[in-house]
Amino acid sequence: MIIVTGATGPLNGATVDHLLERMPASEIAVVVRDVAKGRRFGDLGIEVRYGDYADAASLPAAFDGADQLLLVSASDPAADAVALHRTAIDAAVSAGVGRILYTSHQGAALDTPFGPGRDHAATEQLLADSGLAWTSLRNGFYAHTVSWLTGPWRETGVMAGPADGPVSWTSRDDEAEAAAIIIASNGAYEGPTTLTAGSAPTLDDLAVMASEIVGRPISRVVVDDEDWVATQIAAGRPEMMARFTLGMYRAAREGFFAGVDPLLGTLLGREPQSVRVALEAAPVH
Ligand SMILES: NC(=O)c1ccc[n+]([C@@H]2O[C@H](COP(=O)([O-])OP(=O)(O)OC[C@H]3O[C@@H](n4cnc5c(N)ncnc54)[C@H](OP(=O)(O)O)[C@@H]3O)[C@@H](O)[C@H]2O)c1
Repeated sequence: MIIVTGATGPLNGATVDHLLERMPASEIAVVVRDVAKGRRFGDLGIEVRYGDYADAASLPAAFDGADQLLLVSASDPAADAVALHRTAIDAAVSAGVGRILYTSHQGAALDTPFGPGRDHAATEQLLADSGLAWTSLRNGFYAHTVSWLTGPWRETGVMAGPADGPVSWTSRDDEAEAAAIIIASNGAYEGPTTLTAGSAPTLDDLAVMASEIVGRPISRVVVDDEDWVATQIAAGRPEMMARFTLGMYRAAREGFFAGVDPLLGTLLGREPQSVRVALEAAPVH
């Protein structure tokens, strides 16, 4: 039995859809915080169970019988993600789960300036200490969030922001499909497993790409870190969120997102989607 948490989100929801291409619905169960949100899975013949990492008592029944358990990383920025993950991992150990797969992030490290990367590293340590078999799906940055870093370039003609570095922007759909392939491999991937697109462009590179897309020059402007935070606050953004994004620039600058790994393309049997697709779809602000 494959048990999937976070299936009401786009990543693990798509992973379930890809699992269904590889196994019958009777071999899959989803664990959801709101059973009504899981209705589409029930309609597909998938068992829908209630479970919330914040409700430890719900987890023994939720994880019961899992040969493999896909644990979503908790997404609420206000929550203590590592504490929630510890609760889920402890429950998986008690339930005798065969393997945990965890949705981690490329650049997971205790010393990264990007907050979620520190939480992922701490969670991977919990997995390593759990005694269970585990696979950490270190996904590249979602390519569709590229506008976080590039800003309203279509209107302004500039990509203005702090000094950056290479980022291997990766399609979430590709990551979901790869997760299903890894689960269906029944344990062929152990420990940290990096899933990224094939290139890691900088903002300079993205500005060149954007210029080609719109047929006029888009330039890259480097802004001092604190000046950039002040501009963001003046524009009405909460300081906490501005500093969260600054952490991403800093981590990129220090090379945390620079690596590219051929595994994703090998698993998919095709070239992973390029960030250019996401840049072409970048909204007018
Ligand atoms: N690689 C990247 O660039 C990137 C970017 C953003 C996020 N992420 C991570 O990847 C994960 C999955 O991505 P996504 O796009 O599908 O995220 P999402 O839309 O935020 O969905 C998160 C899923 O996790 C569930 N969840 C959250 N807290 C939970 C808890 N305490 N117990 C049980 N389930 C919980 C949510 O349930 P509900 O439907 O009930 O809310 C939802 O199904 C995120 O959770 C985040 O950690 C990665």
